[in-house]
Order: sequence, then structure tokens, then C-alpha cells
Amino acid sequence: MTVRISPSILAADFANFERELGRIATADLVHVDIMDNHFVPNLTFGLTMTERLQELSAIPLDVHLMIDDPDRWAPGYAEAGAYSVTFHAEAAADAVGLARRLRSLGARAGIALKPDTSVEPYLELLPEFDQVLVMTVEPGFGGQSFIEATMPKLQRLRESVTASGLDVWLQVDGGITAETIVTAAEAGADTFVAGSSVFRGDPVENIATLRAAAAGHAH
Ligand code: DX5
Ligand code: ZN
Repeated sequence: MTVRISPSILAADFANFERELGRIATADLVHVDIMDNHFVPNLTFGLTMTERLQELSAIPLDVHLMIDDPDRWAPGYAEAGAYSVTFHAEAAADAVGLARRLRSLGARAGIALKPDTSVEPYLELLPEFDQVLVMTVEPGFGGQSFIEATMPKLQRLRESVTASGLDVWLQVDGGITAETIVTAAEAGADTFVAGSSVFRGDPVENIATLRAAAAGHAH
């Protein structure tokens, strides 16, 4: 199985995004965390910054919207050229309608689940999505510890994706290190977001370490 590494620029130097993007050239995607101070108790940046990142980045943008009312705001990120746009199940009024809209705008549509959100209602909706993001920390901040209790949800998703024959990426985000990435890969993840463990130290070396650790255990 293909392993994808998506460094989160939440852990990068916000005053030097151009330089920081240059440090992660070996990554598959760049994870862009949008926070609105309502859905989560933290604020990052929005569409204007994302448009600029889209101009600067040599690798595709993997946008993670931790915002209220994604039905209203998410399409703008697809229009800006984001490769994937992931919104939270807990925040969307019409998840399927929004996913269809994102796809019609040319983006991959992703749905994210907070650690306590059940996956069951979404299993039958898998054909509507290109990726599912299982949050492995409470969304809002980088540098938190991986919540292992989220792994059964990932296993359930992997079983459903395999049974369906669909090519839905299963993404994890939060507390991913060279150790926890093994647990997540074994549970069925194929796309790994990592902030602190990529940007602390040498990103190229860290990305290679994460990739190798996951590759040995991916399904
Ligand atoms: C958390 C964000 C994550 C965060 C991960 O709400 O969605 O993308 O940047 O950071 P680490 O890898 O440090 O846990
Ligand atoms: Zn994220």
C-alpha cells in the first residue's frame, strides 16, 4: 500500500512559510490547518493565506478545516485549488451535499471525525468521500499525545474500504511519531499528518523515518 506523509505547517514558522515549504519538498502533501476559534479554541489563518500557499507550494495542499459552517466556507478552498478539502462531520449541516460540491469543484472531498465521534453513520457514505480523517488528538493544537483509543475506528474503516473496493484514503492526524505511526499503519491508515515530528529537527530526515516506519506496517 502507498504511504503518504502530509506535514502539518501548524508546526512550521508562520513568518516564513515559503522557506518552510522548501524544507518539506520530499513530502507527498502539505497539511494546512484552518482554525476559526469557534469549532476549536484556536485561530490560525484562512482563505487568503491558503491562496498564497497554493501559489508557493510545489506539493498539493491537504486542507483541514476545523471551522463552523463548512457548508458555507469549504467550497472557497476548492476554488483556490486545494488538492483535498476535509471538513468536520460534527460541523457540517449536509456532509454529502458538501462533499459533492467539493468534488464538482475538482477537489478531493474529505470528512474528519473527532476522537469521540462514531464512524458508524459514515460507513455507508464512503462512496461520497475520497478520504476520511480520523483525528488521533482533540483538534485545535499541535504537540498533543496520540489517542490510541481511536484505532478501532480506523480498523472499522479499513475493513469497510477493503470490502467496498473503493480507493478511499484513510488519514490520521495528531501525535504521529516514528512510534505511533506504526500503530496507525497497522490499524489501516495510509496517509499520515505530522507536525511536530516533521518540523522539529531535519524535516527531510524525519519524513524519511516516518515513511519507512509506516511502510513496514501498512496493509
Ligand atoms: C491539530 C491539527 C494537526 C496538528 C498535528 O488540531 O489538526 O494537524 O498540526 O500536530 P502534531 O503532529 O504536532 O500532533
Ligand atoms: Zn490537521
